Amino acid sequence: MNSSAPATTPEAPDGRALPVELHLAGTYRRLVRASPARVWENVFDWEHLAHLHDGSFGACELLARGAWGWRVRLTLAGREEPQVIELRADRAAGHYASTTLEGTGAGTEIRVVLAQRAAHETAVVVKFWVPEARPERLGPIGAAYAQAYARLWDEDEAMMRARERMLGECRPRGPLEGSVDFGPAEDVRAALPLPFELSGRAFRLVEVNGALLAHSTVCPHWLGPLDDAPVADGAVRCPWHGWRFDVATGACLGREGPSLAEAPEVVVIDGRVLARGPQRTSG
Ligand code: FES
Ligand SMILES: [Fe+2]
Repeated sequence: MNSSAPATTPEAPDGRALPVELHLAGTYRRLVRASPARVWENVFDWEHLAHLHDGSFGACELLARGAWGWRVRLTLAGREEPQVIELRADRAAGHYASTTLEGTGAGTEIRVVLAQRAAHETAVVVKFWVPEARPERLGPIGAAYAQAYARLWDEDEAMMRARERMLGECRPRGPLEGSVDFGPAEDVRAALPLPFELSGRAFRLVEVNGALLAHSTVCPHWLGPLDDAPVADGAVRCPWHGWRFDVATGACLGREGPSLAEAPEVVVIDGRVLARGPQRTSG
């Protein structure tokens, strides 16, 4: 555990020199049940850090990005001092490294090698290189990193597998037809939110400011799941990247982005709640 290697990032953006020697604190290995395409997508996806991994990270601000990777200002959950993290990837060679340029652990470099094992399996080897030189400190640091990374990869793998499933599904097109009868309004309001399907598409019945509304439970960004997503101020927030959508209109809020798929209208007829496709007027 006392291997050492020169840091690959000689200085921070402000010109401050970073430690020149790094020491291997530990290695984390895992077989991820997703294709390399999903894993690489996830590697370049800086935006999910503060949302999918909200138990580990707080705010995340993008500083730069490109084909080379990304640089963000990232706050650990429950901490105030931000870190500047830079990820540089060499996709053709199958590896990437994320370096802490500023903040706690500055100089730390986490190097990851990816290798496809099967159509939907990718082997991942993560090595934690740190500026700490004391041998007795390296083991605990490596163990803490491995524990943190196990959790991060658990969350990433769940997202990648869900996305792979959604991409593989043949989603129905065409108009929303038919209706769903939820029963007496009083019982329905007490049971919200309620998932349901119409014309083979997934929706959820919710209440916003006293009005019963239905919204698609598939995020139009990366097909993230909105089934259990929180609704606040009339908007539903996707757990993968935090995009918000107006439940009443489906519009993407606070950014340029696609709207939620068309949802059925919700009506109360004779005291019963119905969700139904748009009514077409004749003549
Ligand atoms: S999948 Fe990215 S915000 Fe929903
Ligand atoms: Fe992640």
